[in-house]
Amino acid sequence: MTTDTAAQAAYVVAALLFILSLAGLSQHRTSRSGVVWGIAGMVVALAATVGLASRSITATGLVLIAVATAVGAGIGLWRARVVEMTGMPELIAIMHSLVGLAAAFVGWNGYLDVDAELSGSLLGIHHAEVFIGVFIGAVTFTGSVVAYLKLSARIDSRPLTLPGKHVLNIGALVAFVGLTIAFVARPNMGLLIAVTVIALALGAHLVASIGGGDMPVVVSMLNSYSGWAAAASGFLLANNLLIVTGALVGSSGAYLSYIMCKAMNRSFISVIAGGFGTPAAAADDGEHGEHREISAEETAELLRDATSVIITPGYGMAVAQAQYPVAELARKLRERGVEVRFGIHPVAGRLPGHMNVLLAEANVPYDIVLEMDEINDDFAATSVVLVIGANDTVNPAATDNPASPIAGMPVLHVWEAANVVVFKRSMAAGYAGVQNPLFFRENTQMLFGDAKQRVEDILRRLDALDAPVPEMAGTSR
Ligand code: TAP
Repeated sequence: MTTDTAAQAAYVVAALLFILSLAGLSQHRTSRSGVVWGIAGMVVALAATVGLASRSITATGLVLIAVATAVGAGIGLWRARVVEMTGMPELIAIMHSLVGLAAAFVGWNGYLDVDAELSGSLLGIHHAEVFIGVFIGAVTFTGSVVAYLKLSARIDSRPLTLPGKHVLNIGALVAFVGLTIAFVARPNMGLLIAVTVIALALGAHLVASIGGGDMPVVVSMLNSYSGWAAAASGFLLANNLLIVTGALVGSSGAYLSYIMCKAMNRSFISVIAGGFGTPAAAADDGEHGEHREISAEETAELLRDATSVIITPGYGMAVAQAQYPVAELARKLRERGVEVRFGIHPVAGRLPGHMNVLLAEANVPYDIVLEMDEINDDFAATSVVLVIGANDTVNPAATDNPASPIAGMPVLHVWEAANVVVFKRSMAAGYAGVQNPLFFRENTQMLFGDAKQRVEDILRRLDALDAPVPEMAGTSR
């Protein structure tokens, strides 16, 4: 068997391993094995690619590849080990930016180093691949960098609203099509520089004009773009595995974006166009009325008298690492005969499934953890809802204020319960940057402070309420 045939066979094996990996990652139960399949696929892919390349590169080249692989793998391992769960989305965003940057570099290299054997229509196809690869790569690069900056709160998460933003986006796409035709007819560096600059600006603008509430969709959309950028590089490098892998990532990311759009009630087409169909946010006049506060002790008493409790966790539970005392609280209340369930919003936290992972970590039984659609009708018959570090996902403005930036996004109807206790540290807005009228409703009380400490305070008070009352001195005789 020649090296080429062996490498192509290994590529087929790697592609199958990647498909198994995607299948595994699609469910919590099998996600660990999905990761293992993915790692195995990447090891096979790397070995085959280096084996293939070794026929045409020098020993120094091979050493450089080994060093680059070791450095890249080292940085990847280090980041993966130290990243907090709450920091995952921004890590993913910055990884996507590297895929985009690599695709843009591969494109540029394809222009500077044209295979001398290419001519006629094949040369035209090559130049179209160069142009498309640079465009997708550069859009992905700056889009992902802006997503990283927003997700890590290094820049404001509110949408940038330049006048005529849709015209700017469409203008950039039209310019790309025109420049591609011109480049294929007469390839030159000026046109390539022009498309690179346009794509860099378009990527930054697309993501900057998206509000914080829509960021989950953006992350999965950039995931898809990074896949297509890799596939474009695959065409340029004539590497079948890169084409297949890029297409797998691109299409699965696009499908995930579609699922997220449905969950968030957003139009898929307007997401791809970067417009997201959200109206320009109306200014918040800050007039919401008075809020009422409650202490941990009073909350414990409210819970002691409750018959049914729903806990709706959000990003703040992850920040406070409150899942363990929250799980303990659920257990204690259940022991007392209270019906306790968790209501999980599809984008609560900072990545899909964030809350489910935290609750599973704290051994909360799966059967009391319900999805938003499964529990939304039950709030009206619930005595107490504990909103633990959630904000946008329980904001009634999404349902009753068409001018709100999160209008139309499905939310948990917590306000329908008899009593709502909101755990947070201040009256600050949530990730989408919009105030929450829930906090000012008649049946809502705010429990300020770190969620973990407040839940622990409630546990202590519940224990004290359960403790037998010591008999008065002298009464026992
Ligand atoms: P958010 O709307 O971000 O609200 C979290 C709340 O937690 C804040 O109001 C904050 O208020 C509170 N908090 C923070 N630290 C706390 C602590 N130590 N103790 C108590 N409270 C604390 O969260 P959410 O309701 O989960 O909504 C998620 C948002 O993130 C949505 O807008 C969603 O679109 C967006 N997003 C989601 C994803 C995915 S895929 N899930 C990805 C990116 C963005 P204080 O500061 O006053 O304490």
